[in-house]
Amino acid sequence: MPGAEKLIPLSPVTNSKFITNINQNITMNTSDLTHALQWRYATKQFDTNRKLDPETLQTLVDALRLAPSSFGLQPWKFFLVENPELRTQLRAHSWNQTQVTDASHLFVLAVKNAITPADVQEWMEELSSIQNIPHESLAGLQNMIVGFISNMDEGQMLAWNMRQLYIALGQLMTSAAVLGIDACPLEGIIPAEYDKLLALTDSGYSTVVACAVGYRHADDKYATIPKARKNEAQVLVRL
Ligand SMILES: Cc1cc2nc3c(=O)[nH]c(=O)nc-3n(C[C@H](O)[C@H](O)[C@H](O)COP(=O)(O)O)c2cc1C
Repeated sequence: MPGAEKLIPLSPVTNSKFITNINQNITMNTSDLTHALQWRYATKQFDTNRKLDPETLQTLVDALRLAPSSFGLQPWKFFLVENPELRTQLRAHSWNQTQVTDASHLFVLAVKNAITPADVQEWMEELSSIQNIPHESLAGLQNMIVGFISNMDEGQMLAWNMRQLYIALGQLMTSAAVLGIDACPLEGIIPAEYDKLLALTDSGYSTVVACAVGYRHADDKYATIPKARKNEAQVLVRL
């Protein structure tokens, strides 16, 4: 895991909901970040003998939970699957991809299909309590969000919510990389079968994508193939 040790000392992630003491002494520098992003790859073969320690695992959970979303609505539910029997069952609906059973842990990211005015109301109440602001002063925001969502049909809302979910996936993957943890995002799954196994059917949530996390196997040949990306001129317009 080249250079992973020097990638770890980031500002400590706290489990507290109420972060009042923002630590700006982030020790990662720009080349550390680029190194981590070059180092990561969609891991195909995991080391079945290596498990993430509880603190690292919790940090990855925090990375998901701290993901930003439009209006802060967090239209998602995350599963952290460790249970080997369940993972064997999930693998049968994942193109038999070994990452599902062999990684230390498997995250499954599910989207909330629709956001209702009642959901917005509920979140405004929570926001008012977390940020210690009177609920009445959130009325304008609440009306604006309810107006915004009422302009979407079912399909548009699902697509919107799914876009938020992919922000969480990206945050999870980048967080894993900076911690020197391997990951493989997995869209090669059958969401409806995952829904059955995770008791999500008719729950208002639907499986979208999974992400295996753990440590690469020393024999994973994908670790050493050159990273293939378009060059900057193909994807970036500087104006
Ligand atoms: C949303 C998403 C879904 C993916 N699904 C799979 C998958 O099911 N199985 C797999 O082996 N790789 C999967 N990948 C990995 C991509 O193939 C990989 O990220 C891409 O080829 C770039 O390579 P790199 O991530 O190793 O740099 C997925 C990637 C993303 C972002």
